[in-house]
Amino acid sequence: MNQSMLSNTKTIFCLFLFIYHSTYLSAQNTKLSGMDQMKWKKVLPGVWKAEIGELQLDPFNYTNPPKAKAIQNLGEASFPFDAQKTLHHQTPTRIGIRLPLEEEEKIYGLGLEFEGINRRKQVYTLKVDHYGGVKGYTHAPVPFYISSKGYGVLINSPQRVKIHVGVSNRKDSQLPELVDRTTGGNKWAARPLSDAVEASAIGTGMEVYVFAGNTVLEVVQRYNLFCGGGVLPPKWGLGFWHRVHTQSSDQDVYKEIADFEKNDFPLDVIGLEPGWQSFAYPCSYDWDESRFPDPGKFVDALSQKGIKVNLWENPYVAPSSSMYSSIKPYTGSHTVWLGEVPDYTLEAAQKVLLGHHQKKHLDLGVSGYKLDEVDGYDVWLWPDHASFPSGHDAVEVRQLYGLILQHLLQEHLRKQNRRTYNLVRSSYIGASDKSAVIYSDYYQHKPYVTALANSSLTGLLWTPEIRSAKSAEEWIRRFQTVCFSPMMMLNAWYSGTKPWSFPEVTDQVREVIVLRKRLLPYLYTAFHNYQSSGSPPFRAMVLEQGFAEDEKLVGGQLDDITNPYAELQRLEVSDQYMMGPSILVAPIFTGEKSRKVILPKGKWYDFYTGQFVGDGESITVKATLGQIPLFVKDGGIIPMIAEGEDLNSDTPKLEVRHYGTTTASYLLYNDDGVSYDFENGAYSITELVVSRRKGGKLQGKRKLTTAYQGFDYGKIDWKWMSAGK
Ligand code: GAL
Repeated sequence: MNQSMLSNTKTIFCLFLFIYHSTYLSAQNTKLSGMDQMKWKKVLPGVWKAEIGELQLDPFNYTNPPKAKAIQNLGEASFPFDAQKTLHHQTPTRIGIRLPLEEEEKIYGLGLEFEGINRRKQVYTLKVDHYGGVKGYTHAPVPFYISSKGYGVLINSPQRVKIHVGVSNRKDSQLPELVDRTTGGNKWAARPLSDAVEASAIGTGMEVYVFAGNTVLEVVQRYNLFCGGGVLPPKWGLGFWHRVHTQSSDQDVYKEIADFEKNDFPLDVIGLEPGWQSFAYPCSYDWDESRFPDPGKFVDALSQKGIKVNLWENPYVAPSSSMYSSIKPYTGSHTVWLGEVPDYTLEAAQKVLLGHHQKKHLDLGVSGYKLDEVDGYDVWLWPDHASFPSGHDAVEVRQLYGLILQHLLQEHLRKQNRRTYNLVRSSYIGASDKSAVIYSDYYQHKPYVTALANSSLTGLLWTPEIRSAKSAEEWIRRFQTVCFSPMMMLNAWYSGTKPWSFPEVTDQVREVIVLRKRLLPYLYTAFHNYQSSGSPPFRAMVLEQGFAEDEKLVGGQLDDITNPYAELQRLEVSDQYMMGPSILVAPIFTGEKSRKVILPKGKWYDFYTGQFVGDGESITVKATLGQIPLFVKDGGIIPMIAEGEDLNSDTPKLEVRHYGTTTASYLLYNDDGVSYDFENGAYSITELVVSRRKGGKLQGKRKLTTAYQGFDYGKIDWKWMSAGK
């Protein structure tokens, strides 16, 4: 080949390459038509944001600012995807996004789901609703998901986000092999593997946030810290709650309290149901004079016994309400149960509500509310085409209603330096710093436990409340679960049940309530960690993946391991969960004689006896009626109120238990339990250190750290639970 031939060949080859390349690119462009790359902006270390269009009603208007310092402490991280593969498209009415997803990735989160943990291969319509029916219709449908690869995605939208998690296949995507159904056997798939998460929502704007994390827990921490950190409830909120029958009068409540005393049951909060009001539903928010002739005296009488009062209400205003005429100008086009629907996005409406509630309830010492019916079925609540005076879309108002109310009441009380703990039946994005626990009318025990696990994955608190039972066995089993949850509550609004309603198990019910109360120093510290580091107090087992160092994710680059997420997959269970950093809770359900428990990596010990039970394996435990199976991690330090101490003392003597053989240390938190003074340093942290003496015996020491005068716990009695076992 001569020089000129060579050069011609080169030219032809280059021309071929050029044509091939441009065809390929243009083909790509055609295939991706309508999709643009998302533009990411770093907002904090390990947190990025992409904006598409403009949001109307921003859920972040109802959250507190990010805890930037704590996020910085988690450290820098690199962007977890190939940014070029993050795409969006916008039509005049809808915004869609597409984010990459690898075959082995597991996906968790998406709000308060009552089923399963791994969300892959599903489509969810994330709509605030009474639970049930369509996937994603739930009390708190938070559009936040976490990947096993070490990142989380929040789709910030006030609209109902519809999300396809690894299902639906674009023509230009990485398609799996095409299989003939007739001959393909089980290779044919009704939901062919997809290489993306695709989501969309109606509206003119959407924000997408990405949160990095080396473990699922760290992703959750970043999300919670971004939403203002977790909530630290008042101590009384973590005590025993009893909601009385809806028709109860003040005299009935006094009698009920006397019965609690007679039966020797702790009682911290009395919840009044609709009948405390002169009209419900819709609501008057005014006391019913025949049942509560002197509400001030009533709240005082309870307060003298150390009992708080919580009031049920729904947001729909009755014509007979004393706030009716002031709120009416700020209400929507439709009624709910023939009551006015206030537009609480308007400051004027907020003022009416807060002014009324301050004067009629909070000034008397009422501690908080049960915000009911902020979810509701479509047949009850306002339609999507309703209009509101602020001009906000009715769907957006509905999606955010529960969140707005939680925020308003909590921030109102914060100004008075009063912490509150409420109940709410719907929540949404950015709720981790909300002092409210979600509940439901739905009443299935096992799904209640699943909801408890799932709530931890999206900044929510949930109570598997107890109302009634078909047998003494069910009664004690449900009590055991609710005592190991964010709110220990008997909701007897229609059943009129009492903790001693099933005499066969009364002693066991009392024991578990007392155990929960004795665990307050441990639980309160767990909530302090939620508040300061975003680490949830009650956790799904997948949040324990970081327990063993060798399982740490490194941005999904563990490709030399066949299944890098094997340990995580083992922990995808929803019928057990963690309380605080060390206690594994494995509820028993009615009828079960034994149950399987998945122990995360490491050694585990029985809470009650300190006996070794297993090492990172699955075990089967026998059911005993009086005890909920509890297990403690090796080196677990559990501070409890010492036996016989006043369960309501702020600085009781402690029994500090140590489990297993590993030396460890634990930071015990305490403060006044009621105010926000802790934000200005009024708290104490005591380091509890377990080490070995020269002879090898374990010893415990208490080290003064940031002790703030007044919140120091009393004497400590160390208990070596596993020594010699
Ligand atoms: C329901 C609520 C129940 C109870 C009842 C009172 O909507 O879920 O817990 O409060 O209202 O009418």
